[in-house]
Amino acid sequence: MFDLIVRNATLPDGTAGVDVAVVGGRISAVEPHAVLRRARAAEVIDAHGCLLSPPFVDAHFHLDATLSLGLPRVNRSGTLLEGIALWGELKPTLTQDAIIARAMQYCDWAAARGLLAIRTHVDTCDPRLLAVEALLEVKRRVWPTLDLQLVAFPQDGVLRYDPRRDDPNCRDTALQLLNQALDLGVDVVGGIPHFERTMQEGAESVRLLCEEAARRGLRVDMHCDETDDPMSRHVETLAGETRRLGLGGRVNGSHLTSMHSMDNYYVSKLIPLIAEAGVSAVANPLINITIQGRHDTYPRRRGMTRVPELLAAGVTVAFGHDCVMDPWYSLGSADMLEVASMGLHVAQMTGQDAMRACYRAVTEAPARILGLDGYGIAPGCHADMVLLQARDPVEAIRLRATRLKVIRRGRVIAESAPQVATLRVPGRPATVDWTLGR
Ligand code: FE2
Repeated sequence: MFDLIVRNATLPDGTAGVDVAVVGGRISAVEPHAVLRRARAAEVIDAHGCLLSPPFVDAHFHLDATLSLGLPRVNRSGTLLEGIALWGELKPTLTQDAIIARAMQYCDWAAARGLLAIRTHVDTCDPRLLAVEALLEVKRRVWPTLDLQLVAFPQDGVLRYDPRRDDPNCRDTALQLLNQALDLGVDVVGGIPHFERTMQEGAESVRLLCEEAARRGLRVDMHCDETDDPMSRHVETLAGETRRLGLGGRVNGSHLTSMHSMDNYYVSKLIPLIAEAGVSAVANPLINITIQGRHDTYPRRRGMTRVPELLAAGVTVAFGHDCVMDPWYSLGSADMLEVASMGLHVAQMTGQDAMRACYRAVTEAPARILGLDGYGIAPGCHADMVLLQARDPVEAIRLRATRLKVIRRGRVIAESAPQVATLRVPGRPATVDWTLGR
């Protein structure tokens, strides 16, 4: 007797007619329907051939700022610089309760979208460490529903930020504040080398932060080269430090947008270095396409990093959402299929294999970057799954498919009705669902 069986599902690799059985919050069997036909379970879900996927994972988000749109005002230009200025205006007015309430609301949205693991950066450039304590509380509250991984993120630069700017009595440095966040239980070491005062200080920040991560045995995820400046080359230092400190497989470079504008010869050397070092990459297509290239007239650069080329070199690449309804981005709804769709279009990844890689960029790849254990649809994995109103990953992206069922540890935690429109056109079908219906 199983707790749950999902019958007649199609898996992301195209295997059809599969039954997935769950006991005690873990997947205990994945078999052709004929094998488990007679098996009984407390709950049975008929997938009707729809896609049963491991949950979506967002490798790059800012949960401390999310859903703050309009506070204290909206970003009129939509630019990165006005967004940073706006965050500076908002920060002194933040309360722990308000951050927790907004983050919890976003986690509700995420769960309903089948987004069950999020790596979120949390600003440590604050003598009060208000957002750090708020998001640690959110992490404690949401773990039955989703996995949160926190990155200590010195938003204003670990060398550039002087805490006495916000509290004249503060005796800590920005690096000490970041370390305090790690002592409190933040999981990953962050950074923002391109925002430090000089290229040299940027490189120095990468060294300092990677050494701290090595000392503590932690992962690293830096906002790295989020600029159109082709000479912003901190990812090279990040890869070099990863090799020097033996951190391969635990370091991620987020954004890497300068790589879009770099000299091709330099990139032909850089990408193999990133691959050799075991550094992964996260592109944030919705943000990269709206924020980069703002100093251009025409042609206007897209500003996303070189995703197909990184993938071809064997680098793990994920797509992140980065922002939803905050000082930097007014849109979004926790839909990683929207993120995948934008990434696919911006990177011109329209081949069949490339489109499937875009689906993996919001599922398997970020799971690997976060180091999630028990992720996937296989015996022994956590019973975390999403049943989508689509037959395959490409259709899921095309339709931003409805999440029919979201399952966490074997329990249905969210459901949505299938998307079907009634058609009142004489002589035509009564309904449409945007599939070919073959
Ligand atoms: Fe970010």
